[in-house]
Amino acid sequence: MKALKRLQEKWKLGTGQFWLVILTFALGGSLSGRLCSFLLKLVFLEKNWAFWLVYPLFLTILWPFSVIFVSFFTGQFAFFKGYLSRVGSRLLGSGLATDSDAAPSTASSAPIHIAIFASGAGSNARKIIEYFENKGLRIKISLIVCNVAGAGVLEIAKEKGIPSLIINKTDFSATGYVDSLQNADINFIVLAGFLWKVPEVLVRAYPKAIINIHPALLPKYGGKGMYGARVHEAVIAAKEKESGITIHWVNEHYDEGAIIFQAKCSIDASDTADTLANKIHTLEHAHFAPTIEKLLG
Ligand code: GAR
Repeated sequence: MKALKRLQEKWKLGTGQFWLVILTFALGGSLSGRLCSFLLKLVFLEKNWAFWLVYPLFLTILWPFSVIFVSFFTGQFAFFKGYLSRVGSRLLGSGLATDSDAAPSTASSAPIHIAIFASGAGSNARKIIEYFENKGLRIKISLIVCNVAGAGVLEIAKEKGIPSLIINKTDFSATGYVDSLQNADINFIVLAGFLWKVPEVLVRAYPKAIINIHPALLPKYGGKGMYGARVHEAVIAAKEKESGITIHWVNEHYDEGAIIFQAKCSIDASDTADTLANKIHTLEHAHFAPTIEKLLG
């Protein structure tokens, strides 16, 4: 059972879709076996040594076609198209996308359930929710995760009818709330003003499926303790001429995952941490949701 759970995590599928994929494999395998026997019997007439020599080779060739055929009927064609192209590219060593550089489930037509993690007012969370709510895409904001009871983002979740989960530090560090996230079928996580470090257990459960927005041009002004107003104060104190936003993958170190997107704004002599924060929010609100759509669409 544990091996199946691991496979489900690797494929980043919800429980229902996972079992449909397994069913497709089983039916495809059985169909290719029967088809193979039937066709070879027409050629060899009896099951002699030549039959058994050709059988495994022919079965290997027929199998992917049978699975693809069955996947039309189980509604899993998009998954298998992506799966076979990844297997093919690995076998042939081509430069096509692999698991490690693809965002989750992009090869599938199944909904992508996003959990937004936020600690504060949640203006970014609101923008993301509103961007996707009327788009009719398969991207759904399915859960708001918050570490501060009474935070503004929880009001937004209530207003939008999105379930929320309030987390505590001890359980977050120990479990990453992986079970709760998986039970909610979450397959992508967006940190939008979330101020705790993401524990390794969560990073491992969601490889290449957690992104963060940081209110500065990383690698500068990042790391532990660098969040919100503190970042803008540090940028102003250093008399920088520009700042900006960074959207990046999350790994087990603060603000160190690979950069996905950056946008800049200039800093005038009259700017304060507050006015810079406004400029940064404007950039975040303009770019965060479209970047998520580009990654997952
Ligand atoms: C945003 O500016 C975001 O970049 C920042 O918190 C703010 C949350 O605003 N995140 C960090 O500083 C993470 N290190 P919001 O609650 O209005 O979306």
